[in-house]
Amino acid sequence: MSKQAELYNELLGQTKALINDESDIIANMANVSALLFERLADINWLGFYRLVGDKLVLGPFQGKVACIRIPLGQGVCGVCATTGEIQRIDNVHAFDGHIACDATTNAELVIPVKVAGKVIAVLDIDSTTLGRFDLQDQQGISSIVKVFEQNIVAHNDLKA
Ligand code: SME
Repeated sequence: MSKQAELYNELLGQTKALINDESDIIANMANVSALLFERLADINWLGFYRLVGDKLVLGPFQGKVACIRIPLGQGVCGVCATTGEIQRIDNVHAFDGHIACDATTNAELVIPVKVAGKVIAVLDIDSTTLGRFDLQDQQGISSIVKVFEQNIVAHNDLKA
């Protein structure tokens, strides 16, 4: 197993251990951001935006102060929330409409958090390194987000 695969395997186990017995979504977002920000290399911002009405609203995060509200369809996060599709951007400056909360950010990985097929939040991970995120990062973070989604379903008696 590659070092990166090992790391994501370990982070997956730690995420399960951290959130499995806890139903509070905000508390879980806070701990998952802290865990990932501490363990992933070369990240300058990592956190959640929650979908509230027709906007994404800043949730638990690690890093510098950030934009509070992002309209749907705007920026990398807004596009992720609207399309429900992962956005893995090598160079955010080439992304039409990118919202520069921190001018030093160059690459971004945004994963939707879905419950019952609907986006309820996004996990945004930023790096100052161009092309920082590869397919393995995308898959590793997606598995962690899946655990997060399953936790919400299990604790709220919802259908996935
Ligand atoms: N750059 C993001 C906005 C969020 S911040 O980077 C924390 C975007 O374009 O959606």
